[in-house]
Amino acid sequence: MVNKKNNKITVLILGANGQLGSSLKRYSSKYKDLKCHFYSKKKLNICDKVKLEKIINKLQPKYIINAAAYTNVDGAENNKTECLKINSKSLINIAKLCSIKKITIIHFSTDYVYSGKKKSNYKENDYKSPISYYGFTKLKGEKNITKYARQYFIFRISGLFSNHKNSFINKIIKLSKKNKIIKVVNDQQTKPLFADEITIFIFILISKNLAKSNNYGIYNLPGKGNKTSWYNIAKIIEKKFINKKIKFANIVPAKSEQLSFKAKRPINSALDNQKIIKNFKIKQKHWKLNVENVLNDIVN
Ligand SMILES: NC(=O)c1ccc[n+]([C@@H]2O[C@H](COP(=O)([O-])OP(=O)(O)OC[C@H]3O[C@@H](n4cnc5c(N)ncnc54)[C@H](OP(=O)(O)O)[C@@H]3O)[C@@H](O)[C@H]2O)c1
Repeated sequence: MVNKKNNKITVLILGANGQLGSSLKRYSSKYKDLKCHFYSKKKLNICDKVKLEKIINKLQPKYIINAAAYTNVDGAENNKTECLKINSKSLINIAKLCSIKKITIIHFSTDYVYSGKKKSNYKENDYKSPISYYGFTKLKGEKNITKYARQYFIFRISGLFSNHKNSFINKIIKLSKKNKIIKVVNDQQTKPLFADEITIFIFILISKNLAKSNNYGIYNLPGKGNKTSWYNIAKIIEKKFINKKIKFANIVPAKSEQLSFKAKRPINSALDNQKIIKNFKIKQKHWKLNVENVLNDIVN
């Protein structure tokens, strides 16, 4: 709860080594009123009920941030049991524990809970109809949290990017070292979100005590700006390297069907941000500026 020795707010972070988990780790020391405990999959598998309860009993967190998930969208089509266990079933136990111990859970879902057939931005209550197994399990996970937890925030995010080794940006840079041409999908539109932006938002939410019973719920949280494709982002990366006179692969557009993905992805998964702006006045930069900043960190 509140750490009695120093009045710090105790936060338990799950999935600490992923893209979002790593961003949370990087920023946590800036928030002096928080005592953050980071657990990677190796230290704590979220499906391990006994260990999870033991750690919760020991730390007595006021918040749990669940950045753990099975996120391999194509892999999920062949690993259904594991994906369902991590993205949905494990959340029944986590949500129940949070409810019993009055812990606020902060969880992340995805734009892939929508079919992608809508032309405009998806609002929180729009019809959910995932077209991939990953999206299906994330939607089931949302339902488990809303059913069993009392104090919860679910942020549906989209197109997460950062300077993490497994992020889209670094994957493209890595591929460029081995290939002359890289085909990148250009018929799926989303609003990419910088991981550090959601990290800062969450830490402010916790440290300024903005979590209240009247604002618990599900929020769509896209990046700020126009919707775009991963192809367009890859072109920005290519341009940055070429401008710096660094050799780079030729980025070419491709339709989803040409890339023979195992899983289907929504054609339009741009999320609407009106609810989160109204409730929290979240401040964001245009996604393009954030991509540029990440690239500057990498290139300079
Ligand atoms: N990336 C995106 O574009 C995107 C878009 C929309 C929503 N989201 C959601 O945002 C959240 C964070 O995504 P991310 O990009 O940071 O994912 P990520 O980089 O794949 O990180 C997920 C982390 O969870 C860990 N993990 C997997 N199974 C676990 C288990 N059973 N117990 C404990 N940890 C486990 C993984 O460890 P290992 O690597 O060792 O398996 C990994 O470190 C997820 O809920 C995801 O569904 C992501």
